[in-house]
Amino acid sequence: MSIYKAKFSAFGSHAPAKVVNNFDLEKTMDTTDEWIRTRTGMFERHYCSEDEAASDLAIIAATNAIEASLVKYKDIDLIITGTVTGDHAFPATACIVQKKLGLKGVPAFDVSAGCSGFIYALDVAKTFVENGSAQNVLVMGVDVLTKITNWEDRGTCVLFGDGAGAAVVSRAQRNDISQIIDCLIQADGSQGDLLYQAAGGSRMPASHATVDKNLHTVYMEGNRIFKNAIRSMYSSTDELLKRNKMSAEDVDWVIPHQANLRIIEGLASKLRVPMEKVIVNIEKYGNTSSATIPLALDEATRSGKIRRGDVILLTAFGAGLTWGSLLARY
Ligand code: UT7
Repeated sequence: MSIYKAKFSAFGSHAPAKVVNNFDLEKTMDTTDEWIRTRTGMFERHYCSEDEAASDLAIIAATNAIEASLVKYKDIDLIITGTVTGDHAFPATACIVQKKLGLKGVPAFDVSAGCSGFIYALDVAKTFVENGSAQNVLVMGVDVLTKITNWEDRGTCVLFGDGAGAAVVSRAQRNDISQIIDCLIQADGSQGDLLYQAAGGSRMPASHATVDKNLHTVYMEGNRIFKNAIRSMYSSTDELLKRNKMSAEDVDWVIPHQANLRIIEGLASKLRVPMEKVIVNIEKYGNTSSATIPLALDEATRSGKIRRGDVILLTAFGAGLTWGSLLARY
């Protein structure tokens, strides 16, 4: 039994300045704007510069979120980052953000759940707030996949962009309309080899040979991931709605992970939600992994599309395999 309820206080986001569109990619590899648009729905993505890393994006997203909330910096009492492309293997990128925010002493850690990292981190934040261990949690989703992209694999390299998003998750007051209703996270480690980075960890430490073979880059079996993604995000959202005695009709906005427009449309169709109720910004950012959902949330709340009190349903799928969904009244 939870003692308190958690809510979203505010969102923030940031994408690096460099923008690369499909026509730019056409010039450097064997691909076409037509293929990318029709197979993925993507047009532009943002790339970090050589000296930009995950924490540089995350700190801007985090500052935007805190400034947009009524929460004071000193009242943040937990920092969590969902990422698989942190500044270093260790320390955690959350600790680097903590230092940049001047919040010495505040616990900070990363969650590794691929593209589901933001949902996983939100579930941890929700639990800390609900049991009274934290009052204001800074949750970030940040990834810089272009630093681990295999530029020789046209099936994956056109998909990824860099970005960061953040949310301040706070304890809800009794009269608050806003509330995180429920969250469900799941995994299937037996299929982890469909989407992974082979080298650079303790299984296959970095060596000249691993670098020569491009083993420090993203490997993905696109087709099998595609089918898994629709199936898992549907079953997760369906279960979440059912166990809260709600239906898709009760949802004002679905905010899905932005990996492929065809996956998003497939999910919407299974959920019987019209695409007008689905937030899509994939054409502008591509797949930014754990940043896609907070980037979309930040844009949609700042533009006034999503309003206070609206019922929102977030859902993601990624490496692990991992997936998860979150239901909230914004
Ligand atoms: O975020 C984490 C989760 N990730 C995902 O959810 C991604 C899931 N997967 C996908 O979105 C899709 O599988 C992809 C977009 C990655 C690939 O789309 P697809 O429709 O599954 O394409 P495919 O891999 O089956 O390839 C179809 C054809 C192939 O040519 P042939 O063998 O039919 O002649 C590929 O060589 O498309 C070709 N192709 C390309 N052509 C032009 C693959 N990549 C490209 C490219 N440009 N960039």
